[in-house]
Amino acid sequence: MSVPNAEPSQNGDIRSIDTSCAFSAIEECDFSRLLNRSRPLNMERQRSCDERSLHELSIALSPQPPSRTAEYSSRMIDHMEYSFSPGRRSGFNTPRSHIACEPHPMVAEAWEALRRSLVHFRGQPVGTIAALDNSEEELNYDQVFVRDFVPSALAFLMNGEPEIVKNFLLKTLRLQSWEKKIDRFQLGEGVMPASFKVLHDPVRNSETLMADFGESAIGRVAPVDSGFWWIILLRAYTKSTGDASLAELPECQKGMRLILSLCLSEGFDTFPTLLCADGCCMIDRRMGVYGYPIEIQALFFMALRCALLLLKQDDEGKEVVERIVKRLHALSFHMRSYYWLDLKQLNDIYRYKTEEYSHTAVNKFNVIPDSLPEWIFDFMPTRGGYFIGNVSPARMDFRWFCMGNCIAILSSLATPEQSIAIMDLIESRWEELVGEMPLKVCYPAIESHEWRIVTGCDPKNTRWSYHNGGSWPVLLWLLTAACIKTGRPQIARRAIELAETRLLKDYWPEYYDGKLGRYIGKQARKFQTWSIAGYLVAKMMLEDPSHLGMISLEEDKQMKPLLRRSNSWAF
Ligand code: GLC
Repeated sequence: MSVPNAEPSQNGDIRSIDTSCAFSAIEECDFSRLLNRSRPLNMERQRSCDERSLHELSIALSPQPPSRTAEYSSRMIDHMEYSFSPGRRSGFNTPRSHIACEPHPMVAEAWEALRRSLVHFRGQPVGTIAALDNSEEELNYDQVFVRDFVPSALAFLMNGEPEIVKNFLLKTLRLQSWEKKIDRFQLGEGVMPASFKVLHDPVRNSETLMADFGESAIGRVAPVDSGFWWIILLRAYTKSTGDASLAELPECQKGMRLILSLCLSEGFDTFPTLLCADGCCMIDRRMGVYGYPIEIQALFFMALRCALLLLKQDDEGKEVVERIVKRLHALSFHMRSYYWLDLKQLNDIYRYKTEEYSHTAVNKFNVIPDSLPEWIFDFMPTRGGYFIGNVSPARMDFRWFCMGNCIAILSSLATPEQSIAIMDLIESRWEELVGEMPLKVCYPAIESHEWRIVTGCDPKNTRWSYHNGGSWPVLLWLLTAACIKTGRPQIARRAIELAETRLLKDYWPEYYDGKLGRYIGKQARKFQTWSIAGYLVAKMMLEDPSHLGMISLEEDKQMKPLLRRSNSWAF
């Protein structure tokens, strides 16, 4: 790894580019129409928080909802009985007024803890440390992780503090341009770091950044999710602030193109999904998530859609945009067809014939029905469904993964009907998936012989612990966002109430163990920043659902006719 001695000094002022702007974060669009878009487009300036709330409210109250967005909003508001107060939020000490409840005392505590986790570089806040737990071995929890920073970033954006998010996006972009080597092997140009750290040199009185692209990580795997989160966050920043000038910067445009060229390059693939090594995402240890894990596929889909909104269609961007559009079509068809599991689909697989040859094969990946795990027959409710963990030749990983399913809802990779089915499943399998602490990272745990083979006997990932069926409070924000999007905030409220009984008392653990998530995780860090930020984001979104827009994308209408395979959900 070559590390520059010091980061080159940065030109702080951000140039605003007002021509050839292909950015349109506000209007969601169908992918293919984008290709023929005439340019330059008008950039609709972002409405302020207050304008947004009031606007959303007025849509919601309108007697004939003009669009699906409005339909969702309307259901959402019906459920929530919100009161929207004028006046910009300025922090936790000036909370938005609300009919139903006073701010929970945990909110102020959480903000304080979140602010304590801030990391500064040359006087500017650039991120938040993974955990402020000094009592145990630090490992790499003293670093700013890209994925961990996302809920922190959303909390700051929702609180009207976008500067730190901008700094983070620009700093990580600089890190992307480092030459990245593991032993003698050079990583792709577009790879974004898993984490970074600020090094202080007291002698020279200088600060430098030190990044990890997987070469120090346990297992030495490069993070595939970091680049996707970076693009998703850039869109969240743009949507929330209305400041398109950041995304329009040539270096940001280039950064996005580099990330995407890693994923859109042609190879031997026969599937539009992205082939990954185990441990390249939130689950960053060997857990049998190699191949085509749902978390990465859902993030890939979301990042592609965000990039489509942010990329300029200039000479360099046009080709990327065309490739994105094609990939989105193929990816959504593949995921919605082959990853979707509900009672009917399960029954079809149960009766699959094998060894089918040619295009007419029903069992395309030659899945042997005997490979269906026992637990799935009881777990599958009559109503409901989900995207399974992985699909590859003769292998379906039937485990339920929280992050992939929530991101599928938020990105509209899931159709509205599938989104509802995912929420139905969460409701009917509440004890298994939520239990006493939201929320299981995956379900169920793997045990005994399977654990030995799949994890390589990993003692941190024993059954119902950590990545292996552990409960992660950070996932609360994703659940809440999915609940709001599907018009079911009462589910989120229930989950948040559960978290409120313990999180603060237990000092914001990283994860909980046990079938019900009753025990503080065996090796869980305390003051885990994303547990804190995840709680705040969940609270702020419930209080003001218009925040959802920065992390959610509406359905693309063009995708619908492409769906053919399962008729077990209504189109
Ligand atoms: C654990 C998690 C990973 C997270 C890191 C820092 O390794 O599995 O997702 O980024 O801790 O909190």
